[in-house]
Amino acid sequence: TVIKQLLVERGEAAVGETVTIKGWVRTIRAGNKGALLFIELNDGSTALSMQAVLEADKTQGFAEATPASCGGVGASFSITGTLVRSPAEGQAVELHATVVEVLGKVYGGEDGGVGGKLYPLSKKAHSMEYLRCNAHLRARTRVTGSVMRVRHAMAYATHKFFNDRGFKYVHTPLITGADCEGAGEMFTVTTLLPEKGAPRLPIRPDGSIDYSQDFFGRRTSLTVSGQLNVETYACGLSDVYTFGPTFRAENSHTTRHLAEFWMIEPEIAFADLEMDMALAEDYLKYCVWYALRHNEEDLVLLEKVPGGEAGLRERLRNVLENPFVRITYTEAVATLEKDLAAEKVAFQVKPEWGCDLGSEHERYLTEQVYKRPVIVTNYPKDIKAFYMRLDEDGKTVSAMDILVPKIGEIIGGSQREERLDVLKARCREMGLEEAALWWYLDLRRYGSHKHAGFGLGFERLILFITGLENIRDVIPFPRFPAHAEF
Ligand code: 4AD
Ligand code: MG
Repeated sequence: TVIKQLLVERGEAAVGETVTIKGWVRTIRAGNKGALLFIELNDGSTALSMQAVLEADKTQGFAEATPASCGGVGASFSITGTLVRSPAEGQAVELHATVVEVLGKVYGGEDGGVGGKLYPLSKKAHSMEYLRCNAHLRARTRVTGSVMRVRHAMAYATHKFFNDRGFKYVHTPLITGADCEGAGEMFTVTTLLPEKGAPRLPIRPDGSIDYSQDFFGRRTSLTVSGQLNVETYACGLSDVYTFGPTFRAENSHTTRHLAEFWMIEPEIAFADLEMDMALAEDYLKYCVWYALRHNEEDLVLLEKVPGGEAGLRERLRNVLENPFVRITYTEAVATLEKDLAAEKVAFQVKPEWGCDLGSEHERYLTEQVYKRPVIVTNYPKDIKAFYMRLDEDGKTVSAMDILVPKIGEIIGGSQREERLDVLKARCREMGLEEAALWWYLDLRRYGSHKHAGFGLGFERLILFITGLENIRDVIPFPRFPAHAEF
């Protein structure tokens, strides 16, 4: 964290000090006929780089540091020197080097020797697509550096937010025998691999796989959500949350879906949908506030990168200043139908009560109609999960989705069905096996009470905060169809 301390936190106060910085070369150029070297070194602590000035006759190790000797951009350096006031705009200090040590040269020459030619990041600007193909090196780029610092800050802010409100962090399992969302989008986990050509996978006469001989004695999968498990802890510890990886084998060919993503799922004991929505809005706003407060240099950089959002900080400040809109699903559909009829908008899929909102509908509501985050409540029961509380009308459930411009759904949550008979009836209606959910139903047998919760897709939050467009750019190693190499 040396460079952030020196450039951001201390600035001119550090003038005169002798320091050592270690990092990777962002730019390097010679001056005064080769008697000077100007190096911008970045150590990942901030979007800013430290400018170091090396002089042939004053800096020990100078000859090793020339581009021809170190290989240029990407080489790792240790530089010791004195901080002086910088004549350049936008940085308080620069480093006048007394000792330079090349820690690692760049062997990017075509013959395998020193040189920058084959170093994948030698040129300055790269497309996000190109960086995705170099996921092992992109941590060194300015844009990925900023995104991942924001990501770190949002993880910290999440724990701080919930801890400050008395929520306990519960670690829910990744391997599970239950399908929380009932959508059948799970990755199966098995040890029943074929052995030396002979099938070990025991197939039943009906063609299905018999998992009774598998490691867990049953079919298991990677979890799609920690909710059912965390609910059991809300019915004992009161307010809790889980924050971990989740897995979905669904269509992840979009800019908003991953096969492996992280989810934050709070569960509030004795709460109804109102309290759930209030917590979700507070939490999102806290994350926005935290990023504006702690990631200024990163947000400034993200406004300037190619494809970045020019008005990013302005948009984020507006999020803080305005309450989220709240409408029911029925009202949302009515608005969409009315505007369609008035030819204010055209949709590929006609909005219709009973069908899920498509991303074009979500975007229209947030970007054209309300121009800010919108909480849509009380969806039809048939398009939502079995555990959501049935409303008095018998048609809708106490669900809420938070939609934001450009992204669409960022949070999905609900008040949970606490009535045993209603929950059992819902399981039957949806063709779920009651026997498999016996432990979940037990919570409704023994001291059942109101509770509510939601899930925030962590990567969608990072898209929201950074203004980037593709979810694959905001997780260190994205998992999507045919991509699990790194
Ligand atoms: O709406 P979902 O499916 O809700 C649940 O999983 C509930 N069990 C949450 C709860 O009440 N505890 O997913 C929640 C959020 C979505 O709003 C979205 O932000 C994110 O998870 N999400 C994804 N993010 C990236 N890639 C995917 N494939 C995602 N699927 C859902
Ligand atoms: Mg959802």
